[in-house]
Amino acid sequence: MGVGVLGTGHYLPTKVVTNKDMEKLVDTTDEWIRTRTGIEERRFAEDDIDTSDMAFYAAKQALEEANVTVDEIDLILTATVTPDTPFPSVSCMIQERLGAKNAAALDVSAACSGFMYGMITAKQFIETNAYKKILVIGAEKLSKITNWEDRSTCVLLGDGAGAAVIGEVSEGKGILSFELGSNGAGGKELYQNEQDMLVMNGREVYKFAVRQMPESTMNVIDKAGLKKEDVDYLIPHQANIRIMEAARERLEISEDRMATTIKKYGNNSAASIPMALSEAAKEGKIKDNDIVVLVGFGGGLTWGAVALRWGK
Ligand code: UT7
Repeated sequence: MGVGVLGTGHYLPTKVVTNKDMEKLVDTTDEWIRTRTGIEERRFAEDDIDTSDMAFYAAKQALEEANVTVDEIDLILTATVTPDTPFPSVSCMIQERLGAKNAAALDVSAACSGFMYGMITAKQFIETNAYKKILVIGAEKLSKITNWEDRSTCVLLGDGAGAAVIGEVSEGKGILSFELGSNGAGGKELYQNEQDMLVMNGREVYKFAVRQMPESTMNVIDKAGLKKEDVDYLIPHQANIRIMEAARERLEISEDRMATTIKKYGNNSAASIPMALSEAAKEGKIKDNDIVVLVGFGGGLTWGAVALRWGK
């Protein structure tokens, strides 16, 4: 048996904020944001929508798509740096709202790599036969921790949530290989300060990401015994189109084979990858038996990647 994705879901806040709107908030231009980051617009959650609300909607859609009942869920793992409260966890809030009475619940803290950490943690529980079905969510309300006076970060971020039900799939399908890593010495480059705001040394994170993302992508392909020509679709963390392009160019795949939700949603931290995965699956960009690589990096510093064969 393999371990893979049984269904996906995502939630997008309705409030669309364009680069032109950002020009009214800080000293920036649509041109600067587009050319330096690839972002055209982002979504911000309304005041009465918190991270757990977005997580809940994404989770419900993933369960429906997977055709899995709430009672079947053994564990809920929510990756977030913007929980409603430090405790109870978002996962416990989701457990209650879903009525998932058989589920354990735990939040995962690995910043933008959080969904990768969640997915790979889920895989271990299923492989050891401890659990059968695990709900992995990435959800962020980054607008809560955005410093609206810092033009170098506020233009990058957006809110949203994505989810996947992880469980047993046929032999040869599902997660073929993974990589996780961390470098705590780089923690000072991207963190939340005492005022609860996100602080980033963009250039240092950029240098790390532009090296790590292509490297992790190639590592999971090698570990799976694949060649780069085998990869059908790449879903990188949506932080900056230039960083994503570095991974795509290393793989030598065409532009239409890489998820670029960053244009519409900006950087959604732990939610970026599951949102892009759910959207790609729904739009038919990934098909049965396709080789898909998911790769993320973020605060910690942390990184994580998987190569998987799509389908059940
Ligand atoms: O998911 C978390 C991980 N985060 C990331 O991956 C982000 C990684 N870093 C980046 O994507 C890029 O470093 C940024 C998009 C944050 C910045 O792009 P950059 O090309 O590295 O620009 P920079 O920081 O070198 O700044 C260049 C100039 C500076 O002006 P001076 O000093 O050259 O006069 C900045 O002050 O751009 C200025 N600048 C802006 N100008 C207009 C910074 N932010 C803005 C802005 N609008 N929003």
